[in-house]
Amino acid sequence: MTAKHDTIRAVSWEEAGLRLLDQRLLPRQEHYLVLNDSAAVAEAIRSMVVRGAPAIGVAAAYGAVLAARERYAALPADWRTGFEADLGFLQQARPTAVNLAWAVARMKACAAGVTGDPVPVLLAEARAIHDEDIRANLLMGERGAAFISPGNAVLTHCNTGSLATGGYGTALGVIRSAWAAGKLSGVFADETRPWLQGARLTAWELVRDNIPVTLLVDGAAAHLMQQGKVQWVIVGSDRIAANGDVANKIGTYSAAVLARHHGVKFMVVAPASTVDMAISTGASIPIEAREPQEVLELGGQPVAAPGASAWNPAFDITPAALVDVIVTERGVVEQPDAEKMRAMMDRQ
Ligand code: MRU
Repeated sequence: MTAKHDTIRAVSWEEAGLRLLDQRLLPRQEHYLVLNDSAAVAEAIRSMVVRGAPAIGVAAAYGAVLAARERYAALPADWRTGFEADLGFLQQARPTAVNLAWAVARMKACAAGVTGDPVPVLLAEARAIHDEDIRANLLMGERGAAFISPGNAVLTHCNTGSLATGGYGTALGVIRSAWAAGKLSGVFADETRPWLQGARLTAWELVRDNIPVTLLVDGAAAHLMQQGKVQWVIVGSDRIAANGDVANKIGTYSAAVLARHHGVKFMVVAPASTVDMAISTGASIPIEAREPQEVLELGGQPVAAPGASAWNPAFDITPAALVDVIVTERGVVEQPDAEKMRAMMDRQ
């Protein structure tokens, strides 16, 4: 992978605290926030300053460092009580992406063994979570790209790139790797109503990294596939159940149904931290319900008839039967089911 296709890092640590690219403002404004307390990190996750399952896990890990820093400075002999309450607050910021709970649990376990100042140990753990995520993405990028035949075109949904992860991306990492290998004839991106992660974020990061992208409204995906313009749909995930059912951005399930109908292959790319072996099927995955205003308005301007109400589930569940391949850093599972998922997760 050449650097020219991988230049963006939206989450980073600096001495003052956690530096986040404010994704609510893209692409009009490239503005960074530096947060120095864990409550501000929880609010940044809730309000979508930082979003994307792996990215919110990484941000929460650094948020735990900030919590330890505050609590240890205030009460060195008993910092853990307040720290654990702060972790609970971080974990509750968004419900669907299991990477958030996974990262918080890992930071809590790390803190359990600490004596003295917890900050250096927890910072090393948060950095490890961040670095491991980027390494996993690079590996998944290679593995996923191996499925793409030269000349194929792909459709992606939401934003799964450097903005949504520690860096490089999951589904967008596969697209970066396949593009760098010269395999792709085109990249199509759904605009992804209502937050427009496709139009605002995926298009911004691909253009920035010299990968041409064509946007379409979500409702145009069926027509795109009917015309034979794509051979793969490639998406990320917020939580994968033990049987291979996949929770991802609302509209992913529609894309999977359409893909199966049109003979288009469907790939899900996610790190092992997205797989929740404690949940047997997608039916038990909590689906975040967001504010009706996100549907009734666009960029703060009303677009719906006054008086209308709106339903705004942020994620949906794609049954494993509609998934051709799940790519993780632990391995690849084709036609996923509970047995294959268990075997893949048991690998180190
Ligand atoms: O609501 P968002 O923008 O956080 O939703 C993000 C997605 O649905 C992504 O597809 C998913 O988190 C995977 S990101 C690598």
